Amino acid sequence: MSPLLFSPFKLRALELPNRIVVSPMAQYSAVDGLAGEWHLMHLGNLSVSGAGLFIIEATSVERDARLSPGDLGLWSEAHEAALRPIIAFCRKHGTARIGLQLQHAGRKGSVNLAWQGQKDIPIDAGGWEITGADEIAYPGRPKPRKLDAPRIQALLQSYADAAKRADNLGIDLLEIHAAHGYLLHNFLSPLSNQRSDEFGASSAGRMKFVLAVFEAVRNAWPEQKPLGVRISATDWVDGGWDIDDSVELAARLKALGCDYITASSGGTVPEQKIEVKPNYQVPFAERIRRDAGIATMAVGLITEPRQAEDILAQERADLIAIGRGILYNPRWPWHAAAALGATAAYPPQYERSHPSMRRGDFLKARRDA
Ligand SMILES: Cc1cc2nc3c(=O)[nH]c(=O)nc-3n(C[C@H](O)[C@H](O)[C@H](O)COP(=O)(O)O)c2cc1C
Repeated sequence: MSPLLFSPFKLRALELPNRIVVSPMAQYSAVDGLAGEWHLMHLGNLSVSGAGLFIIEATSVERDARLSPGDLGLWSEAHEAALRPIIAFCRKHGTARIGLQLQHAGRKGSVNLAWQGQKDIPIDAGGWEITGADEIAYPGRPKPRKLDAPRIQALLQSYADAAKRADNLGIDLLEIHAAHGYLLHNFLSPLSNQRSDEFGASSAGRMKFVLAVFEAVRNAWPEQKPLGVRISATDWVDGGWDIDDSVELAARLKALGCDYITASSGGTVPEQKIEVKPNYQVPFAERIRRDAGIATMAVGLITEPRQAEDILAQERADLIAIGRGILYNPRWPWHAAAALGATAAYPPQYERSHPSMRRGDFLKARRDA
């Protein structure tokens, strides 16, 4: 039987040629949110990796939604224009379908780059005012401004506008980032949302903003194109957001037309207790898939082809996202195909690197053809 990892998967009108997804990974290499040459190399490379889909990094829907000054953005036409030639390159040379993640960093925003330590950038040093679900600071960070009703409405419009720009660019799939302690997750977690209005007060109230963002994006995004949500399935802290909440949220998102959930975890508070090991987040993808009846993407320390295949074979998830493993080895899908006895897409320029074509067989095959 052919491996499941290399079987197609359909999300609305989008057919993915296999189940390997390159997880969104911030590159902190944009200038004023504009994509540049690093993105051309990085995304161009992913487009010829043999993965079925790559998801462009967390992309800010407003200037002040950024985590760092290097974050990618899609809050203006100039941002759309900067991404256009890069997407065109990926389409021309690669086969991977193209996703993009929409992001607001919330109370974690206005810090310097990951490799500079993610330290506070004060406003008078080029930083920006950070906003959150509530006036509760991430430990050690400044207090965010609590979003009021007009700002919430404006933000919903920014999400919708960014979705339209992504569509103009021909992006195939959108993912809403509602994980890792950023703005949407701030609203969900009782540790960062103690509001008493309609966007807090109860578990249903805390979910309301995420559902509103989802609806705003779904309405702005073409019917035939898939839309998923990445969540932190648990805060890994007693009294925090947990997997039961996640199943409930996933069911509500599904009712609004959500196509898949990516089950990540953590990020709300530094006291989280996570035992990081292979497949450590897969039980969340499995629970959500089973109990909310929605497709899931598993992510987190999935590094081996057989490991990925087993997750699919055991019906624990529908898609496998690979993050660091694909930065380390951008040909992971080729190697997985070789290990599992399947085929993955190669650009013609690299065809001769295929193990079966290395010792002259390639030239012979060409001569005989
Ligand atoms: C450099 C880097 C940047 C990341 N940026 C994002 C991001 O933009 N959005 C997101 O949801 N997750 C982000 N993540 C998390 C990854 O998508 C992934 O969930 C995580 O690395 C676990 O998967 P892995 O063990 O396969 O790397 C990032 C991870 C890394 C290593």
